[in-house]
Amino acid sequence: MGAEKIDHIGIAVQSLDEGRAFYEALGLTVSGTDEVPEQGVKVAFLQLGDTRVELLEPTGPDSPIARYIEKRGPGVHHLCVQVEDIKVAMQGMAKAGYQLLSDDPQPGAHGSRVCFVHPKSTGGVLVELSQPAPQDR
Ligand code: CO
Repeated sequence: MGAEKIDHIGIAVQSLDEGRAFYEALGLTVSGTDEVPEQGVKVAFLQLGDTRVELLEPTGPDSPIARYIEKRGPGVHHLCVQVEDIKVAMQGMAKAGYQLLSDDPQPGAHGSRVCFVHPKSTGGVLVELSQPAPQDR
């Protein structure tokens, strides 16, 4: 399916300011922040070697991240796999019987295009497929 690497690990936090402290204590630095209105989140990325940690703060009570935190508390939310071509990856996963959460790629942070795979069909892990913006390759 063209999987290239772990793009990032997504972690739900109540607030970016509080959530980042632990990772900064580990020596990571915030490399960028963004807001993704379509997904109801503000995000902060912290570079860690060749991959990143993505902190996700809900922007309102209807955000999927707000509902996630309400149910399970803050913590590991998803695993993001970088793919070469999001549409090819989506077609391949759908054809193999995995349940995608959208029919088309959705806008992700920093110009990426993403699609989530339902955790019920992956063995319990919410997986995000992401094709980075061309300048981020
Ligand atoms: Co993500």
